[in-house]
Amino acid sequence: MTAARLSDQIEVFTPLLMAVEGRLQEVASEQAGIPGAYAGQVIRAGGKRLRPLLVILCSGLADPSRQALIDMAAAAELIHTASLIHDDILDQADTRRGAATINHLQGNHTAVLIGDFLFAAAFGLLTRTGCPEAVALMTGAIQAMCQAEIEQKEAVFQFSVTEHRYLDRIEKKTAALLAACCGAGALTGGAAPEDVASLMAYGRNLGLCFQITDDLLDFTGDSAALGKPAGADLAQGILTLPVIYLLQNFACEQGSELADGNSNPVSLPCRARLREISRSGSCAQPDLDYIRQAVCQSPALGQARQKALDCARQAAACLAGITPETTRQALLDLVEQVARRQR
Ligand code: FPP
Ligand code: MG
Repeated sequence: MTAARLSDQIEVFTPLLMAVEGRLQEVASEQAGIPGAYAGQVIRAGGKRLRPLLVILCSGLADPSRQALIDMAAAAELIHTASLIHDDILDQADTRRGAATINHLQGNHTAVLIGDFLFAAAFGLLTRTGCPEAVALMTGAIQAMCQAEIEQKEAVFQFSVTEHRYLDRIEKKTAALLAACCGAGALTGGAAPEDVASLMAYGRNLGLCFQITDDLLDFTGDSAALGKPAGADLAQGILTLPVIYLLQNFACEQGSELADGNSNPVSLPCRARLREISRSGSCAQPDLDYIRQAVCQSPALGQARQKALDCARQAAACLAGITPETTRQALLDLVEQVARRQR
């Protein structure tokens, strides 16, 4: 799927997307002083605008006079932006989208409040949509995101983490908001309950694919292209799918070693060191370098890539009964874009 074909499918929604952009700029320019300045800066820094796009595509509507839809889509982007500002504080991140973060420039105090400011602006827009079911989807997703961030902190350097736990965490951290955007768009567009459910399942799987790809790019990506430092997850002790698969493979290999002697592609010193790191539950820099190298040289990256593609396939399957065809095709194209993204 080419970018040209994607934009063909989405072209019909361009006036709405431009109206959403206008609403975001209004939010930034309405306030004087520091909140207005930094809100404007983060909004203008851009981003993929994936969440507003999902709201609009799932509504199936292409009518820019639908103010509720514009407000819903802009609110989705503001919630996402506020969450990233808070995430950068928690992660002590210096760069995002190729620019210095607010916490880096102004300190945590101001950054928390700018995040809160955007969060409040989002709720100002949500109250204007007149769709309490959609607002409930958004608030549920935000609570899930907070829960995930707490669980992620508690799981730092816990090498006993399972694939199941990881998937549960990224579902709450990332997929819940994408699912809520799809559901909120569908509800605003007046979709039937079964279509709302299918579109939310689509958003959930798209979100899982998005986050697994994000976690892969942390190993394979380039900091300049990503606009944030690569390798940051492992450095913070956040153990993502590639590391989980490395450890899983290691555990299986240990089993096969016991069963048939020495049939193991991972060298003995490597296994001994991983076992030791896993036992101690904390990592010094040489250990981090070691794990990173072991992941990159093992089948774990390919396995994680397969998992992302499985989620992409499941997202596409959720669209089977969705009409009109323009909407279905645009959402399918979006799956390919997310699965192939390099930044
Ligand atoms: C980025 O993930 C972070 C999130 C998807 C969620 C952050 C959520 C919160 C901080 C909870 C508070 C929410 C609100 C709405 C105020 P990542 O750290 O894996 O990605 P990154 O590498 O881009 O930072
Ligand atoms: Mg982060």
